Amino acid sequence: MDSGLDGVVVAETRLSDVDGQAGRLVLRGAELDALAGRLDFAGIAAWLWADAFEPPADAGPEALARALGAARVAAFARLEPCDFDGPPIEALRRSLARAPDGDGLDVAIDLAATLAVATAALARSGRGETWMPPDPTAGHAADTIAMAGGAPASPAAAAALDAYWTTVSDHGLNASTFAARVVASTRAGLTSAAIAGLSALKGPLHGGAPGPVLDMLDAIGAPERADGWIADALARGERLMGFGHRIYRVRDPRADALKLALARLSGASGRRSTRLELAESVETAALSGLAAARPGRRLDVNVEFYTAVLLDALGFDRSLFTCLFACGRIIGWVAHAREQIATGRLVRPASIYVGPPAAASQI
Ligand code: ACO
Repeated sequence: MDSGLDGVVVAETRLSDVDGQAGRLVLRGAELDALAGRLDFAGIAAWLWADAFEPPADAGPEALARALGAARVAAFARLEPCDFDGPPIEALRRSLARAPDGDGLDVAIDLAATLAVATAALARSGRGETWMPPDPTAGHAADTIAMAGGAPASPAAAAALDAYWTTVSDHGLNASTFAARVVASTRAGLTSAAIAGLSALKGPLHGGAPGPVLDMLDAIGAPERADGWIADALARGERLMGFGHRIYRVRDPRADALKLALARLSGASGRRSTRLELAESVETAALSGLAAARPGRRLDVNVEFYTAVLLDALGFDRSLFTCLFACGRIIGWVAHAREQIATGRLVRPASIYVGPPAAASQI
């Protein structure tokens, strides 16, 4: 029995292959490097959904981009201010719950649109600003940045968010994708599966890490303080957010895809990011600190570390980082849910009873 289901195979998938020994991620037959920075949101959705819906021709990137634009308008009209009290991830959960349920491409597009529109609205609510309506003719990333920030997105900023969403679009049977597949296996519908995925993503051991990564960078403050801060945190037995992974025993390849997106973003602005310089120093300090503290277990940087730096550079508040992750991972949740419906059975594992023996007299 392994309560973490380590190494337990419960599905065949055509969607992504995570090679934890080689540090490689393949998305439906293409290396991550070949996709990140080249596809926009509609492009990676079309790529991962190509086998998921009938007829597939309706799911091409241009058609998807148009449908996403229309769906953002519909999702915006559905937003309810009362959903936005409380933590951001709860607002997304409530907004998703208002979306129609079903198994079709229209529902999948609606879910992606709802997450982006609600995340942008959260950004504005957080600053006490009124919500900004979507522009259905804009790209999904550009429109999300514009709705959140109130000004048109620069091409470099939109490209960076597209690269981020491509990078996190799918990643094997991580906790949230597995949760989505379990719910899909009951034939509950894509919206219910997405709400399950979102709920699993909330936790700090999965999608909740990038906000705390930024807190850590703030607490360290300057590169020369990194070694001491990391050593103290490890001596207190703390986990360093943005490091370690269940599957990767080497560097998470998504970290480098995000570093490249960051380099392009800061190259377009013409100035080197001091936050990126600090992050690189902290990464170096953390890797040597972790190697010394846990010599038996290789702990390297994961996707969340440079996610934090990238989303911060795009001007998003750290309270929204998990929401932005969900905006990208919805592509994978939907694709896996559809795959589970097409090829899988009802998920129903077994447990070993370790409670007291039955004794009628105790009742
Ligand atoms: N910092 C310090 N120690 C760590 C870290 C870390 N980031 N990660 C693991 N360890 C230690 C654990 O304390 C444990 O030590 P022990 O055996 O002495 O108790 C050992 O390494 C093994 O840890 P596990 O929890 O068994 O490893 P698991 O594969 O379950 O954990 C996880 C993976 C949850 C990602 C873990 O590395 C972690 O908590 N990282 C920090 C949070 C984080 O960055 N999460 C985002 C992951 S990426 C994603 O989900 C999108």
